[in-house]
Amino acid sequence: MRNFTFYSPTFFVFGKDTEKDAGKYVRRFGGSKVLIHYGGGSVVRSGLLDRVQESLRAEEIPYVLLGGVRPNPRSGLVYEGIELCRKEGVDFVLAVGGGSTIDSSKAIAAGVVYDGDFWDFYSGKRITKALPVGTILTIAAAGSEGSPDSVITREDGMYKRGASGDAIRPKFSILNPALTQTLPPFQTACGITDIMAHLYERYLTNTTEVEVTDRLIEALLLTMIHEGPRVIENPDHYEARANIMWAGMMAHNNSCGVGRTQDWNSHNIEHELSALYDCAHGAGLAVTMPAVFSYVMNHNVMRFAQAAVRVWGCQMDFAHPEVTAMAGIQAFRQFLKSIGMPGNFAELGADEKDIPKLVENLCRGDGRKGSISGFVTLTEEDCTNIYKLML
Ligand code: NZQ
Ligand code: ZN
Repeated sequence: MRNFTFYSPTFFVFGKDTEKDAGKYVRRFGGSKVLIHYGGGSVVRSGLLDRVQESLRAEEIPYVLLGGVRPNPRSGLVYEGIELCRKEGVDFVLAVGGGSTIDSSKAIAAGVVYDGDFWDFYSGKRITKALPVGTILTIAAAGSEGSPDSVITREDGMYKRGASGDAIRPKFSILNPALTQTLPPFQTACGITDIMAHLYERYLTNTTEVEVTDRLIEALLLTMIHEGPRVIENPDHYEARANIMWAGMMAHNNSCGVGRTQDWNSHNIEHELSALYDCAHGAGLAVTMPAVFSYVMNHNVMRFAQAAVRVWGCQMDFAHPEVTAMAGIQAFRQFLKSIGMPGNFAELGADEKDIPKLVENLCRGDGRKGSISGFVTLTEEDCTNIYKLML
């Protein structure tokens, strides 16, 4: 295991009706004027936004509203949010929605207290200062409710990039699984896929002797395999929703990723797909992961074989571990299909002729130098081959 520090100071409030206390938590974490940031309208239709406003009014905390965050959130609305916060003297950002809304909120929170262009943070500068952010999560997926990360797409060039820093870890996150019951099955499945991706990105490591985090990841993957189909079958299954929601947080607050190198190649390769086609991040990952895994499998075939045996229940073939490894990847592919995820470029709405552009943006865009690195280093040629495996 490698040396590490781990600081995850988010206060979690989990369970039914917990959003009623949003105002109390804003006060507890120092907010006196709030920006309530939300997405395309699901929180309006569900009545959640009304309940949150009521809760702030009960605490006599003034607020301004900014809706309209779209999936794969854009920089344009972030600039608008920064300006609004400065004009209104906002000192706390409350995200009500999914990963996109939370990420946009984090970007605004960092941008308000920064003199330069907030995009600097998405070009490699670490975020060390931000307004406090609180979240009320409505979809178990991105894990942004417990992560120090934010992913934004810049309209100019359509670059989708991430920024990080403990300063943008939410001060509190309210997780009521019942709020996720209104999700359409496709979005639920996208969330399940993203959570599993966050686990695999950490599982694919070059660090040896990391049994504790390996076992945590395997447990969470097994949970997703058990609960995913139950919630697709019955969207109102509160207990299954609850297990998935907490697994989503644990998958990405990095408790499973400490002390080990991580991959993130699948995420980087997918981000170009959701940037270009505006597809759902989870759907893009469903197409990307099996292709990446088959391509890099031989780098450490025993790691994939271990996952195949411990997570997917495959029989170990000691004479041919690559057969076991491939059986695990196939089982994952089948699982994704069974919950309604796309399996190839066509089902995702992607087009073979765009592969050179995808590779160019991925390996050269925004200052990159012709490759991406993770579990293995992938050159432009490798990335081209991987996109072709998705056809
Ligand atoms: O916008 P509204 O109307 O709210 O609708 C949303 C949106 O259309 C809808 N939705 C959310 N909760 C709902 C609901 N519909 C009905 N009932 C509910 N309870 O679902 C759609 C997707 O929402 P979005 O916020 O985009 O989903 P998700 O949480 O999957 O976030 C995806 C974004 O997070 C980024 C992704 O790249 C993508 O941009 N990620 C962020 C990470 C992070 N900050 O740590 C890590 C991830 O790897 C990921 O890259
Ligand atoms: Zn993700």
